Amino acid sequence: MKRVALLISGSGSNMVALAQSMTGDHPGRPVVVLSNVPGAGGLAKAEAMGLATAVVDHRAFSGRDAFEAALTEALERHVPDVICLAGFMRILTPGFTARWAGKMLNIHPSLLPKYPGLHTHARALAAGDAEAGCSVHEVTEELDGGPILGQARVPVLAGDTPETLAARVLVAEHRLYPEVLRRFTAGDRRPVLFG
Ligand code: GRF
Repeated sequence: MKRVALLISGSGSNMVALAQSMTGDHPGRPVVVLSNVPGAGGLAKAEAMGLATAVVDHRAFSGRDAFEAALTEALERHVPDVICLAGFMRILTPGFTARWAGKMLNIHPSLLPKYPGLHTHARALAAGDAEAGCSVHEVTEELDGGPILGQARVPVLAGDTPETLAARVLVAEHRLYPEVLRRFTAGDRRPVLFG
């Protein structure tokens, strides 16, 4: 059984989808939901699901290295085999990504390698793209740049705003990330491609 840590900063809808998917013959089980933001909405959802939670408030530390040292210590308490970044909005240093190399996944709301970084939906709309989507990738020291393990495509519709497009992509995220995690915990590296 693979021990899966889920890292959040906000509402945690991807965390909920992942945690709910890890049942039955799924090789993974959630062992902790960890947030860098005290009071993040996802923490209450995790507690309601009976999951262990932890907070490592990045604002309580003098710098990125001190924060990441505390984050690693909190993670190691749960001995994770896999770490899923699920709306975790901190940029991680090469030291941290190296410590967890090969074990850490992230979901990004664009069809990478297009639109790494922020404001992905506004950028897709500004470019006039006919489709958008989300990607799950292994986390490396390159921001949003690791090997892609899955992608889901959604249409861009006339009149879309960043908000309407984000909502459509989020539904696809909740389908894609659990399937990628299922394969990843089973040691199956075949990419997941939806849409
Ligand atoms: C998602 O759009 C994800 O792609 C991005 O941040 C959002 C997280 O949403 N990284 P949630 O916290 O999982 O609801």
